[in-house]
Amino acid sequence: MPDWLKDAVFYEIYPQTFCDSNGDGIGDIKGIRSKLDYVKSLGCNAIWLNPVYDSPFMDAGYDVRNYYKVAERYGTNEDLKQLFDAAHEKGIRILLDLVPGHTSDQNEWFLQSKKAEKNEFSGRYIWTDGVWEAPPQYRLLCGITPRDGNYMVNFFSSQPALNYGFNNITHPAWQKKPSDPDCIATREALKDIMRFWLNMGCDGFRVDMADSLVKGEDGEKPETCKIWKNVREMLDKEYPQAAIVSEWCNPKVAIGAGFHSDFYLDHDTNGYRMLFRDKDKKTGECKAIFGKNGKGDITKFLEEYLDDLKGTKGKGYISFITCNHDTPRMTKLFTQLEAKIAYSFVFLLPGVPFLYYGDEIGMSYMEGLNSKEGGYSRTGTRTPMQWDNSVNHGFSSAPADELYLPVDTSENAVTVEDCEKDPDSILNTLRKVIDLRHQYEDLQSDGDFEVVYAEKNTYPFIFKRGDFIIAVNPTEKEQSAPFEYDGETVFAIGKTSVDGGKITMLPQSLEVIKLDK
Ligand code: NOJ
Repeated sequence: MPDWLKDAVFYEIYPQTFCDSNGDGIGDIKGIRSKLDYVKSLGCNAIWLNPVYDSPFMDAGYDVRNYYKVAERYGTNEDLKQLFDAAHEKGIRILLDLVPGHTSDQNEWFLQSKKAEKNEFSGRYIWTDGVWEAPPQYRLLCGITPRDGNYMVNFFSSQPALNYGFNNITHPAWQKKPSDPDCIATREALKDIMRFWLNMGCDGFRVDMADSLVKGEDGEKPETCKIWKNVREMLDKEYPQAAIVSEWCNPKVAIGAGFHSDFYLDHDTNGYRMLFRDKDKKTGECKAIFGKNGKGDITKFLEEYLDDLKGTKGKGYISFITCNHDTPRMTKLFTQLEAKIAYSFVFLLPGVPFLYYGDEIGMSYMEGLNSKEGGYSRTGTRTPMQWDNSVNHGFSSAPADELYLPVDTSENAVTVEDCEKDPDSILNTLRKVIDLRHQYEDLQSDGDFEVVYAEKNTYPFIFKRGDFIIAVNPTEKEQSAPFEYDGETVFAIGKTSVDGGKITMLPQSLEVIKLDK
């Protein structure tokens, strides 16, 4: 286990829209480098960088054309190396985004694979044995290649699935076992890509659709897990300080497969959605636990969370995110104050937390944008960072109509510059809570989590982390609960009082109490 994960706080950067250093309207690596001190000022000591590889950008870079080359629009491999070096000098680690399940249909491997003539890459992707073979249960693209066969896609049509084989083979003529030499060759190619960037200085990878490798398996996906265990063995041996964080959203399985941490994501009906994004499908009414209308039920979240926590304790972490590039920002549903409480809570939980760029200033989800690079409904979460009150909010010097996506210039648009001046801004609040986390091991990744007060359809929610009590009342009403602890308030949003064996929390408050010894 890389020991730095114990106190890691990540900042996710979407490179397209973070900082444009050369005025071409799109963010770049030099721009990111120029903002490392800012990242550090947040208390973030690690970065997850969305894909920066050469790509036709049909899916914002998750369609990799060349795994070994930085996209020209972001700079060069040398720029990326310099970013790693500069970040390390400041004590910041960087995870790249690894896309193991598919490539772009313009990747050289695929260009070879789709040739009629058999070659080294014929088995690198999943092909049926002839164009007339197209079982409807598979997502196949048919009759569009010189090769006489149909190929499977993993996400969008431009993203052919790499071949790691099948579990439960139903069509033996073309489905290969994971132990087939072609499937092993895919796995080994993946490890080589990882080595290449680790040798250059990256600190590990966020792994895209980590559960999607071997086809034809459900549940715990044992064959996909075997591949990751094999990858982890390589890392433990060759790069013991490199971290891998999975996009799986099934922590017990993902950690068991060798990941150091696994993301909780915004999936239908899961606990993460219940916390921050749940709403009535028909009426749109907020049902999230952190909604001020108090319609959530913390016990439902805890059912899932406590079980995951128990199943992963001592083996790996759960990663909570404020948001990511696929998810509506919380401010789509929440006011700034609701978001401030929710974001603060994320950094008070065990595991490795992730802050999505712009959330620290309460940036909005921008409604009504046309899809950009396969973003569709995700596009509103990917708009340019709002640095200051200069042109394009300091993101780029390009004319506004040449920007990758429009900057939010609405009257209420927040900026770092404005937030810096307000001690109660989300920015300054998160700095305080992250700073507190760094000060005390109890509040870091490995620290315990114990429920103190959590009742069905009731608030507040109170939990203990070692020597700290955290109480939160996200609702608009005053809430109280039995309480028998003494200590000193070390962080607070809103007001709370403890008296006569009872804690009373004013509307929309959160408090961290350091217990007397
Ligand atoms: C998950 C990524 O987060 C998302 O942005 C991407 O579109 C898909 N995987 C496909 O790679």
